[in-house]
Amino acid sequence: MANNTIHTIIVCGAGTMGSGIAQVAATAGFKVIQFDLNESMLVRAAESMAKSLQKFLEKGKIGTEAFKDAISNIHYTSDINECKGELVIEAIIENKEAKVGLFNQLFTINGPQLIVASNTSSISIDLIAESIAYPVQLVGMHFFNPAPIMKLVEVIKGKYTSPAIVQQITDLALFMQKAPVICKDSPGFIVNRVARPYYLEAMHLVQTGKATIEQVDAVLASIGFKMGPFKLMDLIGLDINYSVSTIVWEDLGKPLRLKPASIQKDKIEQGLLGVKTKIGFYQYEK
Ligand SMILES: NC(=O)c1ccc[n+]([C@@H]2O[C@H](COP(=O)([O-])OP(=O)(O)OC[C@H]3O[C@@H](n4cnc5c(N)ncnc54)[C@H](O)[C@@H]3O)[C@@H](O)[C@H]2O)c1
Repeated sequence: MANNTIHTIIVCGAGTMGSGIAQVAATAGFKVIQFDLNESMLVRAAESMAKSLQKFLEKGKIGTEAFKDAISNIHYTSDINECKGELVIEAIIENKEAKVGLFNQLFTINGPQLIVASNTSSISIDLIAESIAYPVQLVGMHFFNPAPIMKLVEVIKGKYTSPAIVQQITDLALFMQKAPVICKDSPGFIVNRVARPYYLEAMHLVQTGKATIEQVDAVLASIGFKMGPFKLMDLIGLDINYSVSTIVWEDLGKPLRLKPASIQKDKIEQGLLGVKTKIGFYQYEK
């Protein structure tokens, strides 16, 4: 195994990203502890992973043994004291204080050698590092949605991150059959910085009555984008996408061109978060 010091990976958060990352890690042969405060999310994660692996099996991407092994590699828990391992991949809410609190608790349980990787889309790795007990142990490991399918992983090297850990996480991503790219710690890293105008201009067009949601998505899909911006925001989760826009906008000094959109905020206030709540810009079957 490429990463012979890592045997158990603690994946924190069992939502859209955490469940996919747990699947990737379990399929690569690691023992996985999937932790979430919300037990119903753990149940959903187990169901969605079984469904996703079943599709991989049907398409011949994995065999029956690998299917069974992946399922048996994951232990689900809402008890943080069970979170013992060598590496944490954190995919909880996009909130700095929540991430800091979690990392410090996990250092207390596991000790200073624990490697902590954040899947944050936009929060500065340096800012998180400055509030945790062992800043050299923190690195960004940014997967894309859906994690079992998307190859890219941005590995974010903060100014405190140990170079050996950057290398270890890059090797780990390769071992998981991903395509890692090492990035500097800057607002939105690479993909989320470049993608901001894609979402924001689309919402601006619709908000000012110049086009409909369906029109924008159809046009972008017709020129080769895998998905139009509204379908993509629904898949990501409107709350997550809005948090990322807000953080990038604030960290860049609030430029008018990157101001978060009010139509997105309105949806979030109504609890319409996209695919995960079955309704966002579009409606999905119950
Ligand atoms: N959604 C995406 O497309 C996407 C892509 C890349 C990165 N990310 C990042 O991944 C992270 C998670 O995003 P998501 O879309 O999976 O969110 P989500 O809302 O689907 O899931 C978040 C989960 O975290 C749990 N949680 C919240 N606080 C917790 C805590 N203190 N301890 C344990 N569990 C806790 C919640 O119960 C929930 O199940 C965010 O940092 C986000 O920016 C998201």
